Amino acid sequence: MTNELPNKDLVARSFGRAAAQYDDVAVLQRQTGDELLDRLSLVTLQPKRVLDLGVGTGRNLALLGKRYPNAELLAVDIAPEMLKQAKVNFSQTQGLKRWLPNSQKSMYLAGDAENLPLADNSVDLVFANLALQWCDPRMSFAEIQRVLRPDGLLMFTTLGPDTLHELRTAWASADDYPHVNMFYDMHDVGEAMMEAGLAEPVLDTDRYTLTYDTAMALMKDLKVLGARNVNSARRRGLTGKKAIQKVAESYEQFRQDSFLPATYEVVYGHAWGGQLKQQNHDGEVRIPVSQIQRRTK
Ligand SMILES: C[S@@+](CC[C@H](N)C(=O)[O-])C[C@H]1O[C@@H](n2cnc3c(N)ncnc32)[C@H](O)[C@@H]1O
Repeated sequence: MTNELPNKDLVARSFGRAAAQYDDVAVLQRQTGDELLDRLSLVTLQPKRVLDLGVGTGRNLALLGKRYPNAELLAVDIAPEMLKQAKVNFSQTQGLKRWLPNSQKSMYLAGDAENLPLADNSVDLVFANLALQWCDPRMSFAEIQRVLRPDGLLMFTTLGPDTLHELRTAWASADDYPHVNMFYDMHDVGEAMMEAGLAEPVLDTDRYTLTYDTAMALMKDLKVLGARNVNSARRRGLTGKKAIQKVAESYEQFRQDSFLPATYEVVYGHAWGGQLKQQNHDGEVRIPVSQIQRRTK
């Protein structure tokens, strides 16, 4: 696993700036969030505490609240502005019910998935939709395992390496800097889950294609979403008009039926809390990739 780690301040600032307009462009996030909620409905759970990790503006928090009305909801995000938005959105979905004495409790905590501000064994369900791609998988899964109760469930989506491959190719024609973030593949994700001690991990991938009229429209959406380029080798300072023009021209090679596609490889995963780590004599954890289960469609 060699991908570099994103700069946390940059991620927090970028998503913080995006908080107000994020919902206008979060098309993929809504689709994967719905799919994750559908998958969750196949599991019988009566969670006392549900964590929406990387909650963003809180759309899924409200849906989780509806599904588990007796659960206390925890929202964690690295961007405080996202949490503020999530809080406003949640109280709006609650309407007048929020004034009742037995209204659903929700707590908003600024924090990093790699260092969660939560006690050990304190959560029954961790739901993380398109947030973990901003984290080191080993550190974030270890933290999730730490806070999950032994019979607790983790359900998540993250992005795989084929994500935005068209944009990556188009940028390669303009300069030698990395302009698209690198993503871990499903095997790395699975290994990190096993190493963390999460039990019975199941993973699969799905591809989504969003379509745009122009490459500029795609790049604008990514900016509004807060999905910045956080590669440390990224070009500093402003990118020139000429380079952007070159990207736009190069992206045209992908045009199909009058639209430009933007591919997203989405990794879906779930696992249970509480498996003991398998350590060898050196204290090293080794899990064969063959032990990682795949979901067949
Ligand atoms: C693409 S948004 C997804 C938001 C939400 N889960 C949804 O489905 O709309 C990613 C979110 O993860 C948050 N995030 C990024 N890195 C994080 C980290 N290390 N710890 C906690 N949250 C993080 C961002 O601030 C942002 O709100």
